[in-house]
Amino acid sequence: MGLSLSERDFDTVRRLVKEHAAVVLEPGKVYLVETRLAPLARGEGFFDLEELVECLRATAFGPLHERVVDAMTAHDTAFFRDIHPFEALRNSVLPDLARRRAHERRIRIWCAASSSGQEPYTVAMLVREQLEALEGFEIEILATDLSEEMLARARRGRFAQLEVNRGLPARFLVKYFAKIGDEWELREELRRMVEFRVLNLAKPWPEIEPFDVVFLRNVMLYFDPEMRRELLAKVRRVLRDDATLFLGAAETTLHADDAFERVALGRSWGYRLRRARANA
Ligand SMILES: C[S@@+](CC[C@H](N)C(=O)[O-])C[C@H]1O[C@@H](n2cnc3c(N)ncnc32)[C@H](O)[C@@H]1O
Repeated sequence: MGLSLSERDFDTVRRLVKEHAAVVLEPGKVYLVETRLAPLARGEGFFDLEELVECLRATAFGPLHERVVDAMTAHDTAFFRDIHPFEALRNSVLPDLARRRAHERRIRIWCAASSSGQEPYTVAMLVREQLEALEGFEIEILATDLSEEMLARARRGRFAQLEVNRGLPARFLVKYFAKIGDEWELREELRRMVEFRVLNLAKPWPEIEPFDVVFLRNVMLYFDPEMRRELLAKVRRVLRDDATLFLGAAETTLHADDAFERVALGRSWGYRLRRARANA
């Protein structure tokens, strides 16, 4: 199978990924396209990569295009990834919301770009651990991603040994998972706490009720500066005034959106709307 891509073919893939997902592939990433798309081309029965890319050009956007975008976007994730935002959620954000929402008794949390589900399920476990403080509360956890395939995996709630070895404390594994064959299945009551839905962050969003907490981690870094600004402006519109936004360790709102201020939450940073301070 011909594995190397011409400039023109690389450009076709680069444009497709940018137009559909807003994800930017740097010019030097030809090798990445080759390694990620070669197995897909083989699996789809194409003679070589060129033939696959030719088919992308010749046909309207459809399942093959989606699979290519999927193969070209990073999906890496882990339970308790970067730990500090989750410590902040447990130690200050949730207890604080339990007080602030004492009358409404409802808290809405969104994991945008949730990949295979480890992030929203980490949130679900932490909520579960605070049952007493959150007694009588309705806790809604929405998890969204562009990738149908990742969402299907997430909904299934089954994880390989390697995935549970990465960041999940043993006591959570024992308490919330059951071994099924060589996989670990999250208990149904935890799976039921999370609603998974497709949402492309780069396209117009449906009507969404505002959130108290948003995890938007490790996705914005793949977007260009203009798209980051647009995204943060959209996120602002779905935040309650006193909501907390968590970004990935390599991401920030600084230089992208002045409406946010960075607040120290234990050993993590959260982002809050400046107007929240004015109303506090
Ligand atoms: C690296 S993972 C991050 C997962 C998780 N948030 C974390 O930090 O562990 C990035 C996810 O963003 C998703 N993604 C990429 N572009 C997207 C877009 N335009 N809209 C929604 N999700 C997108 C990918 O499908 C992938 O699952």
